[in-house]
Amino acid sequence: MDEKASELAITTRGLVKKFAAKVAIDGLDLDVRRGEMFGLVGPDGAGKSTAIRLLCGLLKPEGGAARVLGYDLFRESAALKQHIGYLSQNFTLYGDLTIDENIEFFAELHSVGNWQARRDDLLAFTRLTPFRRRLAGALSGGMKKKLALACTLIHTPQLIFLDEPSTGVDPVSRGEFWSILSGILAQGVTILMTTPYLDEAERCHRVALLHRGRVMRSGTPAEIRAGLPGKLYRLDAPDLPVAYRALAVGRPVEQLVLYGDRLHFWSPAGAEAEARAAAAQLDAAGLGPARFQEISPSLEDVFIGLLGAEGVHDEQSKS
Ligand SMILES: Nc1ncnc2c1ncn2[C@@H]1O[C@H](COP(=O)(O)OP(=O)(O)OP(=O)(O)O)[C@@H](O)[C@H]1O
Ligand SMILES: [Mg+2]
Repeated sequence: MDEKASELAITTRGLVKKFAAKVAIDGLDLDVRRGEMFGLVGPDGAGKSTAIRLLCGLLKPEGGAARVLGYDLFRESAALKQHIGYLSQNFTLYGDLTIDENIEFFAELHSVGNWQARRDDLLAFTRLTPFRRRLAGALSGGMKKKLALACTLIHTPQLIFLDEPSTGVDPVSRGEFWSILSGILAQGVTILMTTPYLDEAERCHRVALLHRGRVMRSGTPAEIRAGLPGKLYRLDAPDLPVAYRALAVGRPVEQLVLYGDRLHFWSPAGAEAEARAAAAQLDAAGLGPARFQEISPSLEDVFIGLLGAEGVHDEQSKS
């Protein structure tokens, strides 16, 4: 029983999940602490949704071990289910039911007694009370996600899994959605979420960078940012897209990343001479004046760099 009070909400060792010959989860090791917001980050097909389905007990693994909230995932998954909530990537609400009726449906699904009071709280919490009689099918993307979140929380789970909760939500509603998630954390609920947005991952307490069903790095965003080998530079030139195209010729794709208003140049060896040579190349090609300065990497820079170091970009561009 002590284990049920362990400070780890989730711990997995060597989890493996295959779909026919395809290995979707390839020896997954994760530790998620109670009360934290943990972000599972990775490109399309990395295995994020599969990992969540395993941890909810919806898929059976081919190997490995996992405990969730102290329960053995494979022997005690029935007992676990009442303590977890799952917002799937393709969450479907009943479009011809109202907000109120959708929550009622989930309350009954989970056999929640006295759900009316809980529903009122959740509606207030997600700021949906004024719209409660509106049909779910008539809601905006952001409101649908908030309703889905309310349905996920109706049975007062201790741990919730949110698979890409902010995809399809406009930036303004996304801010509101994050403040709602902060409120959930403040109530002591553990959140494991996936996101394709690395700027969102920066807001998690800890993250794992997932690639091909394996954790490449995990830790706080600051720890992961500090783990990029070499040095990162910001290059400035009058026309960044043109400068990017000129420099990209003959360089590995992960070395140069063009963001909207910035061009990042990564030297895995930490050689300032490489950045100076890139700036000189632009000047010589009439694309200057070019300048460079060392900067600290974002999570996105680290991920792009690590994937590049593994040769992933090359494979993806071939396929
Ligand atoms: N039911 C399934 N049958 C066969 N292959 C599957 C199945 N589910 C997932 N896969 C494969 O497993 C791998 C991991 O898929 P998964 O959906 O977990 O990735 P993801 O990280 O959630 O991707 P996305 O960002 O696109 O949601 C992919 O190669 C996918 O094609
Ligand atoms: Mg997915």
